[in-house]
Amino acid sequence: MPPKQHTPPDLPPMKDLTIENITDNVHTINSKCPDPRLQFLLQRLVNHLHDFARETRLSVAEWEKAIEFLVDVGKISTDVRHEFVLLSDVLGLSLLVDGINHPKMKNSTEGTVLGPFHTLDAHHVEHGHQISHDPEGEPLFAFCTVKDTQGKPIPNVAVDVWETDSKGFYDVQYEDRTTPDGRAIVESDENGIIQFKAIVPVPYPIPNDGPVGKLLERLNRHCYRPSHMHFMFKKEGFDRLITALYLRGDPFETSDAVFGVKDSLVIELGKVGDVEGLADKYGVSPDTKLLRYDFVLITEEEAKQVQEEEAWKEAKRQDCNLKVVNGLIVPQ
Ligand SMILES: [Fe+2]
Repeated sequence: MPPKQHTPPDLPPMKDLTIENITDNVHTINSKCPDPRLQFLLQRLVNHLHDFARETRLSVAEWEKAIEFLVDVGKISTDVRHEFVLLSDVLGLSLLVDGINHPKMKNSTEGTVLGPFHTLDAHHVEHGHQISHDPEGEPLFAFCTVKDTQGKPIPNVAVDVWETDSKGFYDVQYEDRTTPDGRAIVESDENGIIQFKAIVPVPYPIPNDGPVGKLLERLNRHCYRPSHMHFMFKKEGFDRLITALYLRGDPFETSDAVFGVKDSLVIELGKVGDVEGLADKYGVSPDTKLLRYDFVLITEEEAKQVQEEEAWKEAKRQDCNLKVVNGLIVPQ
């Protein structure tokens, strides 16, 4: 297909190129972008990329190496191997973007990284279901509630849960995987309760046999994540919450390779017998480890309002003819 633009565009002339004015030249040629948000994103991206090159005096060899690295990240990526997500995670970008988009509000549960192991094929299961079939795993009973910021239980929330097996591997890391394991979707009941059986999470290395693993090695960084269980909450009218619970005392609690740990998400496991009536009611041995947590979701409206406020704060901080449309900063 021939390119859409055949005639020279109606643009101010670009300046004769120098290291100093190349950035303005790129902005000039991008200035006819009809999408103001895309134009703004590209303008800031180019600013930072160019400053990065100027400030570091980036060598051609380093630039080539970086391109080669990104190509390798693409080559190893598949439907179930999300190397770009992993790269974003180890650079702290995933957590940053999540924090910007889901600012903590009132008493709501904080979000954290999605990670590269969420899949879309988890089965919907009944309450009390065993989501992990690893016989080596230490049994765990999860008993949680899902409420709104007023403390009202939220029924019918689809709660996606996923964890590794006892060796620290997700099901998708096994080549002979035939069906999802260590993951399921449970729906909260009329009291906002979800309960299921699983295994006690263990620490695990993020995939380190690819380009991201090699990068961590070059940086002299370990590749471990502390023991955790992932949760994703979805219900119409509520802001989607992606979070995880971490076990206190884990050796990697304070040095998570992907920066996911937040104080409010660190828990201590109890025993089912600690809560009166729980063992009998749900037919679980009192000695079984117990994961208890009360999740609090914010509504879409609440999320929208706080995002709008935060975006305006940032637009005003930059003080350069910016406004906010639908929670996103765009040029005036
Ligand atoms: Fe994980």
